[in-house]
Amino acid sequence: MTERLQDIAQKMMSNGKGLLAADESTGTIKKRFDTIGLESTETSRRDYREMLFRTDEAMTKCISGVILYEETLFQKAADGTPFVEIIKAAGAVPGIKVDKGAKPQTFFPGETVTEGLDGLADRLKTYYEAGARFAKWRGVIAIGDGLPTWGSIKANAQALARYAALCQQAGIVPIVEPEVLMDGKPGTHSIDRCAEVTEWVLRTVFTDLYDARVDLEGMILKPNMVIDGKNARKASVEEVAEKTVKVLKATVPSTVPGIAFLSGGQSSEEATAHLSAINAGYDLPWSVTFSYGRALQEAALHAWGGKQENVAAGQRAFRHRAEMNSLAARGNWKQELEKAA
Ligand code: 13P
Repeated sequence: MTERLQDIAQKMMSNGKGLLAADESTGTIKKRFDTIGLESTETSRRDYREMLFRTDEAMTKCISGVILYEETLFQKAADGTPFVEIIKAAGAVPGIKVDKGAKPQTFFPGETVTEGLDGLADRLKTYYEAGARFAKWRGVIAIGDGLPTWGSIKANAQALARYAALCQQAGIVPIVEPEVLMDGKPGTHSIDRCAEVTEWVLRTVFTDLYDARVDLEGMILKPNMVIDGKNARKASVEEVAEKTVKVLKATVPSTVPGIAFLSGGQSSEEATAHLSAINAGYDLPWSVTFSYGRALQEAALHAWGGKQENVAAGQRAFRHRAEMNSLAARGNWKQELEKAA
């Protein structure tokens, strides 16, 4: 019997667990490996991801789902075990990034629209057979002089809605990710400007999801937090939490089972502190957790450094961040716990 979308979504959002975003495209993972001076090859990508997925304590206690890039969904660990089996054995749900990236939007200088709808229905069938039970599509909205424009917000929201409908038809839970960038250029906008744009974007996205007849109970929202630009960061943890909750409450229907934030260029510890403050300080109608890429992986990537002898150190670093974020998903993280570790 096929699982109900609502049950998959609930499972992904429960028990203080969250999502590991390990779906860096081949181009993005190369940029990450460049920071440790490691060449990106199919084997080095496999070794890195195997290190993460075999961190048992992190995976079984803190991670409910892993977002994979297409190559990884079909890839095997060094001993021949498919990654999908390793993830499932840890009790987590395998997922897949299905968009084909944010491309320059014709007639909209400085803005992008995410591509990948053509042929998506067929690809989803293949991903389902390979074991994926959720998917991710990221629309990107940049704040800048005169940006964003309505035309770009609308184009991205419609693509997200069409993607979500196709996923649900294929028995796959869509993660709907409209990211308002904190680290775009110039990245000097205020937190209030981020709040205004995030509200506009989320209102548009939920209108388009409704128009596309998407079942809100069978999806997960992956939004940015409301935060000032990366080159003008000054808002306190409390202000980020308060303004984020205000915008989400104004725009996200309570029938949506879960919200899993992206980290978007925040430091690892900031991303944890913000998530914990959001969960600790407010009465929320949804489960709220993490779906972090950089904020879960950065310390592990550097501790590993591409060297076999550092696998245990890399796994300790990943486990620590996973545990800190799992505490934050329950509102129980404390800064002292970072120092203790
Ligand atoms: P970051 O947490 O590094 O922003 O990545 C999450 C993600 O999946 C972006 O699409």
